[in-house]
Amino acid sequence: MPGPSRKSSQRPLKIDRPIALVGMMGAGKTTVGRRLASALDLPFHDADAEIEAAAGMTVAELFERHGEESFRRGEAQVIERLLSGPPIVLATGGGALVNEKTRALIAERAISVWIRAEVETLVKRATKRAVRPLLKNGDPHEIISGLLARREQFYETATFIVDSNIGGHARTVKTIIAELTRRCAGEDAR
Ligand code: S3P
Repeated sequence: MPGPSRKSSQRPLKIDRPIALVGMMGAGKTTVGRRLASALDLPFHDADAEIEAAAGMTVAELFERHGEESFRRGEAQVIERLLSGPPIVLATGGGALVNEKTRALIAERAISVWIRAEVETLVKRATKRAVRPLLKNGDPHEIISGLLARREQFYETATFIVDSNIGGHARTVKTIIAELTRRCAGEDAR
């Protein structure tokens, strides 16, 4: 008889609330989130993609046509909706935690993971495709270090932190699963 599949062997983790991945653009939240969701057999949602679907345009178009404020309102609404249902893995946008209400919601309802990376790593990954409106008007290195300096205080409030500089996304996923397993075993998932 074949042994239990990887997915079913992850089930005993008993994830009873959403897992929200937070951190800067280029941290790998979407890629890590998709793989983590698959390993945990949970649905995956990407906040940016949901905003795009709801608005019928890309994040870049939203910024251009309606401004960042409008995007942020949509972002907060989408995240609230996604955190109101059954457990999922949610990749948030890099600026999501700047919103006080979103921060409170994530703290209250989710296990949050800050996927932390050095500025050089973030710049390299975030500039691979020219889709990020905040990087359009200036030097990406300067913009990313400035945003990180302002946002670090919010990312630090995550349930736990995983460094993603070494080993790529597969390793980040493994580290998150190991940490979740450890926390579930110790009954201190929160
Ligand atoms: C943003 C990050 C982006 C997207 C938007 C704004 C930010 O998401 O929400 O361009 O403020 O850092 P990713 O972190 O998924 O790139």
